[in-house]
Amino acid sequence: MTLTDYPAAARASTLAWPEALKGIAFGGDYNPEQWPEEVWDEDIHLMGEAGVSLVSVGIFSWVMFEPEPGVFRFDWFDRLLDKLHAAGIAVDLATPTAAPPSWFYYLHPEAWVVDADGRRLGPGSRGMCSPNSPAYQEASARITTALAQRYGHHPAVVMWHVHNEYGAPVAECHSHDSQHAFRHWLKQRYGSLDRLNEAWGTTFWGQLYGKWEEVRTPGSAASVINPAQRLDFARFSDDVLLQCFIRERDIIRQYSPSRPITTNFMATSCPSVNYWRWSREVDLVSNDHYLTAVREDAHILLSMDADLTRSLAGNRPWMLMEHSTSAVNWQPYNLAKSPGELARNSLAHVARGADGVLYFQWRAARRGAEKFHSAMLPHGGTSTRIWQELKTLGTQLDELAQLKGSTNTAHVAILWDWESFWAQDLEWRPSIDLNHRERIEAFYTQLWRDKIAVDFAHPESDLSHYKLVIAPQLYLMSAPTIQNLNNYTTSGGHLLISYFSGIVDEEEAIHQSGVAFPLTKLLGITLDEFAPLRPEQSVSISLQEDTLTGDVWTDRFHAQPGTKIIASYLDGPATGGPAITRKDFTTGGTAWYLSTRLTQEGLKVLLDLVYKHAGITPERNLPEDLEIVSRHLDHTEYRFYINHSSTDATVQLPEFTELLTGPQKESEIQVPGGEVRIVKMPHSRRAD
Ligand code: GAL
Repeated sequence: MTLTDYPAAARASTLAWPEALKGIAFGGDYNPEQWPEEVWDEDIHLMGEAGVSLVSVGIFSWVMFEPEPGVFRFDWFDRLLDKLHAAGIAVDLATPTAAPPSWFYYLHPEAWVVDADGRRLGPGSRGMCSPNSPAYQEASARITTALAQRYGHHPAVVMWHVHNEYGAPVAECHSHDSQHAFRHWLKQRYGSLDRLNEAWGTTFWGQLYGKWEEVRTPGSAASVINPAQRLDFARFSDDVLLQCFIRERDIIRQYSPSRPITTNFMATSCPSVNYWRWSREVDLVSNDHYLTAVREDAHILLSMDADLTRSLAGNRPWMLMEHSTSAVNWQPYNLAKSPGELARNSLAHVARGADGVLYFQWRAARRGAEKFHSAMLPHGGTSTRIWQELKTLGTQLDELAQLKGSTNTAHVAILWDWESFWAQDLEWRPSIDLNHRERIEAFYTQLWRDKIAVDFAHPESDLSHYKLVIAPQLYLMSAPTIQNLNNYTTSGGHLLISYFSGIVDEEEAIHQSGVAFPLTKLLGITLDEFAPLRPEQSVSISLQEDTLTGDVWTDRFHAQPGTKIIASYLDGPATGGPAITRKDFTTGGTAWYLSTRLTQEGLKVLLDLVYKHAGITPERNLPEDLEIVSRHLDHTEYRFYINHSSTDATVQLPEFTELLTGPQKESEIQVPGGEVRIVKMPHSRRAD
């Protein structure tokens, strides 16, 4: 990878958004095969009533399309597409390869996924077969070709949706074919067995390989498996899924060259897929998001997911392919959304760049595994609260058509790297309480509360346009990353790095430099020793007049001459030593190091200091739970106010038009508790 590989905006594709979709697309997964054909007319009529403009179809219909190997039945689907088209509803046509027919499993037991314990995962559910199985690849190509040939130019079909949520429910396979494919992949990567032995450090514990045939996928073993082997297996598993996508995509392109192709991501919730790579291969980025219902801060995590998706899309419009109108059915506690939450959630995605709002699914299922999942049309039909709220949202989205194509601007980036997460999440780390995700959420939460727009960025991407870059626990850093961060700070950027960052390289080997720590030059510190804390142990830190609290981790480290000690440990294993440091560059840039896990309050104090250096102004005079996000188009700003509390909020504003509720009192906007207001005004560049 090089700098120009990220973000997705750099990719070559010229197709981006289905031309036929006007305004903000609205709709959901439509699975008509779950219902007798008589119901379809009612469905389509009600879709019209709700303002639905786009439905995803065919996702789980493989066996309905191909009831026997090589025997196709499309008559029912022709009728469906014609009806949808006649009603003016556009179709996002899915390839059904996430749900192979039972005949396929029956004929090809060798294609079943094998897990790390050697268990074979068979039919009766959904989820693909082994991505490395030639039979699966061939059958997928056959059904994809048949669909693309038949519907590639159908007027209803405006875009393609390949597969469903690659990486879920399983991403890794240890079948016979997978062993073979893994070895092949390693040969390509390393060229020789000697190089593989070196990269995996196989002299440790006497694992040296003498023949390629000895090399296996990292299944269950007596003790911890070689971490470099596991990291490569994670890379390989991601790569073979991506190849599955590319194979289907290229078939579709052959027969349907003018329709954009996507596959639905799960930005923050699929740990096994490196979406930075995938986003370069799709024509448009689409994403599925479901609230973690029991978390009080679920709405903040939603924003984080949307911001990551927008970043993957290179700040181009993206599509929210799935979310829920209310409860899901697969969490331990499936809480129904509160009144108004449906609109708050959907509009929060729009605020953060989505030009399409779709749900899983159109009509609630009577049978099957997901019958307790909410839908656009609930079991209770059109008299339900959900239906009423959905219809209102449909009308509101019509009002928002003018927002289409507008973009977000952020001056702060948080570094996000799946390869680093894969490496850090392996076993036998210095503390089981090290948790990169928890830290990213903590930093993001403070920025969200301060109403500061945030992008996520790959560590090797061009960071020069950000005022502030935050790297919370970026365990794996490549040489280009280290170079990139050095360039960023020496050119005047402001960088905040927290503990357990820059520890290993791409081969999962501890970095070698004078003091075995690659950030020495960048941060102006030398790291002596990790000093993790006991469970429940905390440490005190003095920072000017404040005493902050940390837990989980401390470092014994030294500030080099010229590096400022911003805070010191008052107790704990690093007593008297630095806790937070700052190196200043002549260009005005700064590099901050934070060596413990601060409480949320502590992060706020630290970030206030960092903001001052970076020229960022947090918004602290408005209620914390009032989400404020802007999209811009030419000289117009669309500012979203989403009130997540039950208390009404008032915001002073100079000149504006409110898009959802019409005229408001001049110079101030009222945002009732639980509601959303969107104002249109001349573009003003906020300081942050
Ligand atoms: C998604 C999946 C959908 C449906 C939904 C339920 O992950 O793509 O098919 O299962 O979850 O929340």
